[in-house]
Amino acid sequence: MSILSFNSDSDQPALTKFFVDELSDVLNAEKQLTKALPQLEMAATSPDLAKAFAEHLKVTQNQIARLERVFKIIGMSPKDKKCKGMEGLIAEGQAVIKDTEDGSATRDVGLIVAAQKVEHYEIAAYGSLRQLAKMTEKAEIAQLLEETLQEEKETDMLLSNLAESFINEDAKQVDG
Ligand SMILES: [Fe+2]
Repeated sequence: MSILSFNSDSDQPALTKFFVDELSDVLNAEKQLTKALPQLEMAATSPDLAKAFAEHLKVTQNQIARLERVFKIIGMSPKDKKCKGMEGLIAEGQAVIKDTEDGSATRDVGLIVAAQKVEHYEIAAYGSLRQLAKMTEKAEIAQLLEETLQEEKETDMLLSNLAESFINEDAKQVDG
């Protein structure tokens, strides 16, 4: 099934409105994340994990600037509307902090799980937005969203590698 078969002229205004709504949603999601990432950084046990959260904060701030550029290209001032999905995911991360012991490996594993859920949510959001941008013939915007999409995928991969390194670390300790 080709989703592009919807691309008739009469669909364009409604699709563009939907696109802007989704854009506002993800802008709010990123803003929520900039507030949550310092908490995750402070809670992390592994210095590598703490560093990953700190670096992702910078990436996220840049992604917000990129979204603001997208709004500018459309000719709108940036607006954001509460993203309930991200709100729920952040609440899960906070629950991990509350339910695990400070300085424990379990906490780090829990934080990685929570952070990967966030990344997968964002990958879905930016993947869909990029598709919508293509459908409504916004090539420059599609390119900007693609950059962010790749950054989210890289972060997801980095978190997977960190989880992997924890497992290897544990194996070494067991081997003595
Ligand atoms: Fe992001």
